[in-house]
Amino acid sequence: MVSKVFLFLLTGATASPLLQSRTNSINWGPCSLNGTLPIDCANFTVPLDYTDLTSNRTLNLELLRVPAVNSPSKGSIFFNFGGPGVEVRTSLAGRAYLLQALTGGYHDLIGIDPRGTADTLTFQCYANDTEKASAAPATGTGLTNSSDIAKGATWITNKVFGKQCAKNAGENGTLIGTAFTARDMLQVVDALGEDGLLRYWGFSYGTLLGATVVSMFPDRMDKVILDGVMNAHQYYSGPEPEAFSDADMAFSAFLGACLASPNDCVLAGNKTSTQDLEASIWKMINDIKYQPIEIEGSIVEYITIKSMIRSSLYNVEKFPGFAKALNGLLVNNGTQYLEGAAELAALNPPVLTGDSADDSPYGIHCSDKRYRRSSLEEMIPDIEMLEYSSKIMGDNSPVLLSMCAQWKMSAKEHYEGDFQNIRTKTPVMLIGNTFDSATSIKGAFNVSSGFVDSVVLRQDGFGHGSLGQASLCTAKAVKTYFMDGVLPAQGAVCAVDVAPFSGKTFDDFLPELGFDTSKILEVKGTE
Ligand SMILES: *[C@@H]1O[C@H](CO)[C@@H](O)[C@H](O)[C@H]1NC(C)=O
Ligand SMILES: *[C@@H]1O[C@H](CO)[C@@H](O)[C@H](O)[C@H]1NC(C)=O
Ligand SMILES: *[C@@H]1O[C@H](CO)[C@@H](O)[C@H](O)[C@H]1NC(C)=O
Ligand SMILES: *[C@@H]1O[C@H](CO)[C@@H](O)[C@H](O)[C@H]1NC(C)=O
Ligand SMILES: *[C@@H]1O[C@H](CO)[C@@H](O)[C@H](O)[C@H]1NC(C)=O
Ligand SMILES: *[C@@H]1O[C@H](CO)[C@@H](O)[C@H](O)[C@H]1NC(C)=O
Ligand SMILES: *[C@@H]1O[C@H](CO)[C@@H](O)[C@H](O)[C@H]1NC(C)=O
Ligand SMILES: *[C@@H]1O[C@H](CO)[C@@H](O)[C@H](O)[C@H]1NC(C)=O
Ligand SMILES: *[C@@H]1O[C@H](CO)[C@@H](O)[C@H](O)[C@H]1NC(C)=O
Repeated sequence: MVSKVFLFLLTGATASPLLQSRTNSINWGPCSLNGTLPIDCANFTVPLDYTDLTSNRTLNLELLRVPAVNSPSKGSIFFNFGGPGVEVRTSLAGRAYLLQALTGGYHDLIGIDPRGTADTLTFQCYANDTEKASAAPATGTGLTNSSDIAKGATWITNKVFGKQCAKNAGENGTLIGTAFTARDMLQVVDALGEDGLLRYWGFSYGTLLGATVVSMFPDRMDKVILDGVMNAHQYYSGPEPEAFSDADMAFSAFLGACLASPNDCVLAGNKTSTQDLEASIWKMINDIKYQPIEIEGSIVEYITIKSMIRSSLYNVEKFPGFAKALNGLLVNNGTQYLEGAAELAALNPPVLTGDSADDSPYGIHCSDKRYRRSSLEEMIPDIEMLEYSSKIMGDNSPVLLSMCAQWKMSAKEHYEGDFQNIRTKTPVMLIGNTFDSATSIKGAFNVSSGFVDSVVLRQDGFGHGSLGQASLCTAKAVKTYFMDGVLPAQGAVCAVDVAPFSGKTFDDFLPELGFDTSKILEVKGTE
């Protein structure tokens, strides 16, 4: 075991670079995961606790690499697809071909499952499925405006859940914060033996990880793209009203797009205006809220519909199935609802959803968030602010906030600065969509204001992050940035190229990026 020396500051706007031995080079070997291009895997050792300078305890990180398809490689680009809690290695392997095409094909693409996720310090609140099933709360995990008792039920359910998480996870819950994950990435950067700089493309929560690593280590940054940007101030401090603040507009625009394609969108029915259609959908949601329905043995209730809306607005490829399912509910055709729901399910996993198999989304978020409250009364103003941030999504976010308000664990390290006046070696590129239901483009402008010379590219379309709807213009901007370090102009706007309900996907545009879809492989793991 190689002993390491760490030099590091807990306070101050930026953290000092890690001092670390470079002898820990990486031994790439075969992977058990399947990919759309050949992939390599490796195990890599990092310190378990960066704040404990006397400890020699370590953590194994599992890495995945998609080697550059063109040579010579211009270095590595790291990825994070969000959540927190989305498994990075499987996501990267599954999208290897697309991401090589979008970045130009001259980089190795690297994925690390962050702390708390997959096999890396897995964050679980229950010892096993039996314990989980027997503890499952009967009520209150739903949406805070689902009934007039929901806020109280949510509060108390999360109190019990938080205690259970602390009991089961123990110290691990303090070791999964984003600042440690940022340090892990730089350990890998060092061991790669390239130029010692991080190249990175993060989506959704990946933008929070990105904003954190950028702000802690600005002079270690090469090209960094933050795509579908979270307001980093709000993530760390409390309620996050900005996140869903464009969701209502996105939902209305989805309905407008449906009416514009009546032959391909069954939901258009015989409606002539978006307002009419929207009003009838709200009436349906409200009816089902008070009188849930049964379809072939399953219950469809308020949260069922709200959850479907939430995930369906993430990607334009979901629109046809979503429209079909909504229409089934609207015209009381259970078969049509089930058909639509099945179409949606068939699109996972190729379309990013943010689902996670473990409890890491809660563990990472709440251990990072510095927001604690001792009673529900104290939280009510924040809950109401969130509910009013979006009619369609707003009563979704108080659930996590009330969990964090009573969380028992805190990350051992937080980024201590204010995300202001951060001057990186290469300016940061941010991407925001006009109709992003989960991360309003306001987040991109907010984070950009603290990063000197950074640029926000607006993608004028739907979806959560730029992969939500294909845009050749954005693809070219991303490629130009990674290949040549050239940013788009300030105020740049990119049109999208896949019309909603057109049946086209990203793959249809790969040839225009010089990539031939017939070369997409199904590479089987070697386990
Ligand atoms: C890889 O693909 C094979 C065949 O499709 C499948 O059986 C296996 O479960 C997959 N492995 C993983 C890790 O996804
Ligand atoms: C990494 O370690 C795990 C667990 O010991 C092992 O199963 C896997 O094969 C290792 N991967 C590589 C690429 O060495
Ligand atoms: C870690 O340190 C402890 C006590 O300081 C020592 O007993 C142990 O051998 C060390 N472990 C490793 C892997 O170096
Ligand atoms: C903490 O994480 C380590 C490493 O993944 C694991 O071996 C250990 O069981 C975990 N502890 C708890 C209490 O979950
Ligand atoms: C599940 O975990 C509980 C609590 O640790 C334990 O008592 C029980 O034996 C476990 N059950 C199974 C099936 O592993
Ligand atoms: C069309 O509208 C009428 C009422 O204006 C309604 O009765 C009928 O069910 C609608 N048809 C469809 C296919 O939605
Ligand atoms: C219900 O939906 C199915 C599937 O889309 C369709 O085939 C059927 O005609 C619909 N039934 C009615 C009564 O409209
Ligand atoms: C909460 O639900 C009630 C009853 O369905 C509705 O009237 C009200 O507008 C909702 N509040 C918000 C903020 O959406
Ligand atoms: C960014 O967001 C934070 C938190 O909402 C806010 O305090 C700050 O004023 C915003 N900055 C800009 C430039 O909008």
